[in-house]
Amino acid sequence: MPSADAPEAQQEIRFGIIGPGRAAARFAHGLGAVAGTNLAAVWGRNPEKANAFAQRFNVPETFASLDDLLTSGVDAVYIATHPDSHAEFCMRALAGHKHVLCEKPAALNERQLEQILSIAQRHDRLFMEAMKPPFFPLYQRLREHLQTDPIGQIGFVRAGHSDSSLAADYPLHFPELGGGGILGIGPYEAFLALDWLGALKQVHTLGRLSPAGVDAFAVIHTEHERGFAQLHTGLDLLSHGDALLSAPLGYVLIHANWWNPTRATIHYLDRRIVELHEPFTAGGFNYETAHFCDLVRRGLRESPEIPHTLSLAMARLLEQARTALGVRFPGE
Ligand SMILES: NC(=O)c1ccc[n+]([C@@H]2O[C@H](COP(=O)([O-])OP(=O)(O)OC[C@H]3O[C@@H](n4cnc5c(N)ncnc54)[C@H](OP(=O)(O)O)[C@@H]3O)[C@@H](O)[C@H]2O)c1
Repeated sequence: MPSADAPEAQQEIRFGIIGPGRAAARFAHGLGAVAGTNLAAVWGRNPEKANAFAQRFNVPETFASLDDLLTSGVDAVYIATHPDSHAEFCMRALAGHKHVLCEKPAALNERQLEQILSIAQRHDRLFMEAMKPPFFPLYQRLREHLQTDPIGQIGFVRAGHSDSSLAADYPLHFPELGGGGILGIGPYEAFLALDWLGALKQVHTLGRLSPAGVDAFAVIHTEHERGFAQLHTGLDLLSHGDALLSAPLGYVLIHANWWNPTRATIHYLDRRIVELHEPFTAGGFNYETAHFCDLVRRGLRESPEIPHTLSLAMARLLEQARTALGVRFPGE
């Protein structure tokens, strides 16, 4: 690990954005709340949209090509295209010597993620999947609370979300973009199960496909080293995105939407009820981004919160779930 006076230790971190869409807008909003950062540049394949984004967020440079962005002075890129292109852009950015924060899911499958991690290692750059829930104040407070007032070993996680309100042209409906509820919604649920229950042992999935060939609804049962999870994802039913963590001495409800958490209720076996409430600011992407920047400044190449092994385990769980339903993406 470099010493505190290493060149990166005090630096302002200049970000470039690849894929200026909805998630990127939320990232840009959040970045304004992260000290010592600068949204320096954006590249989008549609110049009009990229220029409009740059104007909206006061981004000084809009590059005409990705290569121009990657040879510019930005230190890091945030990749927010659809999952079908995450691997390509991650690998190009890492090879261009940029640190990479990539939206979830970091890749279409485990093999692609392994390739990304190998390039990150070869070029000695930080790679982190953007997995925001554990950085929210509520999630951190819940972890602390369960340390001091425990409910015992969590052995069951239930989480799910299904959104039938998405417009017909929403990217999750298209297999060629890496769509489907499992890749769209499932990464957060995979994270929650792995975070509380540990290593993945097996995955059983039931579900149905849309006419276009992505998973329209899925129920995923997983076994982990410390218990079981029941997860669901969907694009054609409407459900409530809360989560349950169950243990011998109590259970926790993280209220909807649990992946942007603000409220949790802990029910204890002795009938006590503890309510936690922690609002978030600046849209909530700011917390994971602040963590990423801290890693850059400390010269680290992997997040201890979202380690590469965790991203690989998430990719494995999601890949097993969707392939069990017959969802295959072009080129797989
Ligand atoms: N963390 C969160 O809370 C959160 C929330 C929403 C989404 N996400 C994730 O963010 C990612 C993007 O989702 P979104 O809803 O922001 O999508 P979006 O609004 O459609 O934005 C996607 C952006 O990527 C560009 N793009 C797509 N494919 C590309 C390609 N092959 N080459 C170059 N540019 C490409 C699009 O360009 P065009 O405009 O030209 O199509 C657009 O600028 C997904 O991985 C999603 O899972 C995360």
